[in-house]
Amino acid sequence: MFASGAGSNLQAICDHLDEQRGSAPAEVVLVVSDREDAGALTRARARGVPAIWVPRERSDRLAALLQEHGVTLIALAGYLRLVPPDVVAAYRGRMLNVHPALLPAFGGRGMYGARVHEAVLRSGARVTGPTVHFVDERFDEGAIIAQWPVPVRTDDTPASLGARVLGVEHRIYPWAVSAVAAGSVRLGADGRTEGAPKFDFDVFTPEPRRHPFTG
Ligand code: GRF
Repeated sequence: MFASGAGSNLQAICDHLDEQRGSAPAEVVLVVSDREDAGALTRARARGVPAIWVPRERSDRLAALLQEHGVTLIALAGYLRLVPPDVVAAYRGRMLNVHPALLPAFGGRGMYGARVHEAVLRSGARVTGPTVHFVDERFDEGAIIAQWPVPVRTDDTPASLGARVLGVEHRIYPWAVSAVAAGSVRLGADGRTEGAPKFDFDVFTPEPRRHPFTG
C-alpha cells in the first residue's frame, strides 16, 4: 500500500483482511510513504508490516522495492504523488486508488483532501461519495471499480462531508481490494472494469435490508 496521510484506509483494509483469517485473498506486505511522518507508516509498523519512507526524489527506487517485497497488487490510499510510469506499467490492472468523490467529477491534479469536498459544496451537488478505480498514468482517470452515493446535507462543511465519505471509503475500498486480489474483478483488455457486481445498495450495509438513505 502507498499512503501519504493518516492511513485510516490502510487500517480498514488490514482489518478486513484479518477478519477473513486464512481465507483472505491478500496480505499487506509493504507500506510506502512519501512522507516520513505519515500516520500510515506508524500504523503499519504497529502491525509488524515493513513501512518505508521513499521521498519524492527517490521514487526511482520504487519499482525495485516492490519487486524485493514480492508485491503483486498495489492499493493507493491517500497517496499524493503521481506513481512513476514504470510502476504504473508494471502493475496495470493491479493498482487501485480510492478518491473521495464520484469520478469523473471533482478529480484530477490538485484535487485531494478538503479541496475535493469544498469543490463539491461549492458546486451545489446533492450527492457525492467515494470512487475506487484502477490507476493509469493520469490522476483519477483509470477504470472505475466501485462507487457509493453519499448525500450532501445543507449544513455540511468540508470536514463533516469528508468524514461521512471517509466512513464509506472504509467499506468499499477493502471490498474492492479483496475482489481484485481474488480475481473476481479485473481490468479488461478494452480498458474497462470486468466482473463488477450489479450496483446494489445493500452490499455494504451492515443490516442487509436497511437502505442508507431511508434508514
Ligand atoms: C481519503 O479520503 C482518500 O479518499 C484520499 O485520501 C484520504 C486518505 O485518508 N485519497 P487515510 O490516509 O486513508 O485516512
